Amino acid sequence: MSRESAVKHGIRRIGVSTGGGDAPGLNAVIRAVVLAARHEGWEVVGIRDGYNGVFLPELYSDGGLVSLTPETVRGITHLGGTIIGTTNAGNPLKFPVKQPDGSVAEVDRTDELVKALRANGIDAVVAIGGDGSLTIANALAKKGVRIVGVPKTIDNDLNRTVVTFGFDTAVSFATECIDRLHSTAASHRRVMVVEVMGRYAGWIALHSGISGTADAILVPEIPYDIASVAEKIQERYSRGRPFAIVVVAEGARPKGGAYSVVEKKAGSAERLGGAGEKVAEEIRAATGHDTRHVVLGHLLRGGTPTTFDRLISLRFGAAAVRALAAGKTGVMVALDPPTVRYVPLGEACERMKVVPLDCDTVLTARELGICLGD
Ligand code: F6P
Repeated sequence: MSRESAVKHGIRRIGVSTGGGDAPGLNAVIRAVVLAARHEGWEVVGIRDGYNGVFLPELYSDGGLVSLTPETVRGITHLGGTIIGTTNAGNPLKFPVKQPDGSVAEVDRTDELVKALRANGIDAVVAIGGDGSLTIANALAKKGVRIVGVPKTIDNDLNRTVVTFGFDTAVSFATECIDRLHSTAASHRRVMVVEVMGRYAGWIALHSGISGTADAILVPEIPYDIASVAEKIQERYSRGRPFAIVVVAEGARPKGGAYSVVEKKAGSAERLGGAGEKVAEEIRAATGHDTRHVVLGHLLRGGTPTTFDRLISLRFGAAAVRALAAGKTGVMVALDPPTVRYVPLGEACERMKVVPLDCDTVLTARELGICLGD
């Protein structure tokens, strides 16, 4: 059956691509893809740094493809990062091209990418990524590339999957950091503001903030009024609890205000940052309390994946190969407990999965007395 399926679908060699920000679990997916593909008799190559390995081969003196065998993926399940590299610059759908007048235009170069995949003998692709990488995967599928997506991002903002791999590890580490801040906040009678990643979704802030017993959690889905946060802090201090923890999603913004954007470059998503510092300054001004801020940032992307993330990464990788062997293309592997299933890539990318305001996690936060800034 397995050798036959290789012939049936015309697949001899599959390429694996990891795109966008790294997330704990990428290596576990790669390992599962390689070991599962062996049962189909398929060769596996890793495309370095997103698609750069085939798209911009001149960048690699030692070749843009990495041979992935059971030997080369040995002992990587627990390792953070990705052994084949990743990038969140140079999106081939919006490739930055310098114009004669010096300006930079975003150009669709996916036709060239399709040709480059074929020229490298890649018959099918497992694309591991977030919304940006899976939007590229969807465009490639429409151009005839046999491709299956695997949902990765610490932000958990991908539609049509209950969870993405990387999220659990990020939340676990953020919670541990919040736990550690309690003692220093209490000892110094301070307000500690913790900024976490998550882009335009508040999943990391909400889950770690509740688990770490924060006093206030500010998420992009609920634009905040600093007066309400200050009131919550003052109420604590007046009750004889003279310290507070405030968790701020990097995408948090005041009512009527804008996101805190650090930079926007052609071919890349805008980079957020600074929301925590801003909130800390506002709290200091509104309450007069000694306030400090800390940015967890990329620390949330590193380290060993949790057991949960390892397991779903391995399941996703194996399921991606199973999908290709069953003749599927243009789909994303999704977690729909207790099973994994396949959803069209177009549906996964059509909108961002943000925190629903009526979900029980939000209700729980409110019932526990946590201020959500509204
Ligand atoms: O999407 C994952 C993520 O870590 C976001 O939470 C964050 O906004 C972004 O990537 C940061 O990306 P970069 O690698 O460009 O700093």
